[in-house]
Amino acid sequence: MAGGSIVTQVGGKEYPGNFTLFVAMACLVASSGGLIFGYDIGISGGVTSMDSFLSKFFPSVYRKAKEDVSTNQYCKFDSQLLTLFTSSLYVAALASSFAASSLTRTSGRKWSMFMGGITFLIGAVINGLAVNVFMLILGRILLGVGVGFANQSVPLYLSEMAPAKLRGMLNIGFQLMITIGILAANLINYVMSKYDWGWRVSLGLAGVPAFIITIGSLCLPDTPNSLIERGHSEQAKEILAKVRGTKDIQDEFNDLTTACEDSKLIKSQWKDMLEPRCRPPLVVTILIPFFQQLTGINVIMFYAPVLFKTIGFGDDASLMSAVITGVINVLATVVSIIVVDKYGRRVLFLEGGVQMLICQIAVGVLIGNAFGTSGVGELSKTYSMVVVGCICAYVAAFAWSWGPLGWLVPSEIFPLEIRSAGQTVNVAVNMFFTFIIGQVFLTMLCHMKFGLFFFFGGWVLIMTIFIFLFVPETKNVPIEEMVLVWKNHWFWRKYVSESDIHVENVEMTKKSHVKTP
Ligand code: BGC
Repeated sequence: MAGGSIVTQVGGKEYPGNFTLFVAMACLVASSGGLIFGYDIGISGGVTSMDSFLSKFFPSVYRKAKEDVSTNQYCKFDSQLLTLFTSSLYVAALASSFAASSLTRTSGRKWSMFMGGITFLIGAVINGLAVNVFMLILGRILLGVGVGFANQSVPLYLSEMAPAKLRGMLNIGFQLMITIGILAANLINYVMSKYDWGWRVSLGLAGVPAFIITIGSLCLPDTPNSLIERGHSEQAKEILAKVRGTKDIQDEFNDLTTACEDSKLIKSQWKDMLEPRCRPPLVVTILIPFFQQLTGINVIMFYAPVLFKTIGFGDDASLMSAVITGVINVLATVVSIIVVDKYGRRVLFLEGGVQMLICQIAVGVLIGNAFGTSGVGELSKTYSMVVVGCICAYVAAFAWSWGPLGWLVPSEIFPLEIRSAGQTVNVAVNMFFTFIIGQVFLTMLCHMKFGLFFFFGGWVLIMTIFIFLFVPETKNVPIEEMVLVWKNHWFWRKYVSESDIHVENVEMTKKSHVKTP
């Protein structure tokens, strides 16, 4: 049915289960894997603007920055070498997510989390003690490997552990930890920028969250899904009863076992992924991280101090403003945790998209109005406050929509046998575009000027239409019954045949609302 969207709701049976302390603790520990990613996003921008760090490792960049007396606000601070240092981590993360894919599938989710923690820990120590650029880059690559393993395994772990009705909330614990990591890094940078050796503390402290996830992962049980997949059915049953807080788990256990039998039939996760029945989750999982990065969020996350400097704040004030966006990022993620299983993923995606679009247009107009195309001008205090206000509203919108949902949705829509490979696709695409944005933003700002905000705004419009038409609601659907969601979607149903549906005892109810945009 071209041009229209059917919102389908699948009501499979409901599994009994409570919100247990056991599941809460397991998810809390696992989501701390998000801290290492967040800390890294937040730390590099601040460190690379510290004089003592630049003069030690990148003296040519330092000299150039000092000589740069240009008044063009759009074209300051542009150094490919420095941005390459920042973004090298994302390339390492991309590569390691492929190795993580098979470890996660064959040895279980917890060992990938452990690998993530330990490599990140070693990377943090090397970085904190760095005496030359080689140590700096080596450390950075190890941090990237750690992020690749953690981001590949943690969202899967959370989505599989959680009861269907709380999956959104528990999975978003990961994004909450990312935002806390970013905020902690911003605060630490703010304090450490005042000391010559401050960059060592900033980089070395990354070891703290790495320590938490390394030790934490050793104490965690693996998910029932992964245990069954690896032939430990009895243990899986025990864990399932424990996480659900009831002995009445036979129905859910049967569904997991059926999913696992399908899983045993496949030869290669990657080949299977190309089959028509996997087309819907695959396309959605490629586009969601791509779109998430094209919201432009990392322009704010990486370059907030630079951006705030550009719009006329002094050094300290610009770091402070970055802290403000950090706090809003955390608080708005909490909003998402509260509403995601009640109102669903689509509402958040659509509202967030519209709000981001409005803010981007406003920032583009305000900055264009003040600096024109020459990039020369000054902003009054009130004017700057309005710009910061718009940026904050934009960050809030991202933080309750594309931020958490960019990790949640891809982790819950694949069948068990290729869930691990699916999550690798998510991480790899995300890291690739994080790298690209990190690498080209400053050059783009210099060339596109205030038009850059309209550029990202255009993408936000496209992604919002994409969600409206092609992303079905997945709230409250048991994870091993997702195939029913695709089977009931107006567009994707043609890729799923009856023989692909192996879920047992499911009564499907289908409520179709035709909405014509
Ligand atoms: C994104 C990151 C981003 C962060 C901001 C995450 O979901 O993947 O790229 O920096 O949100 O909070």
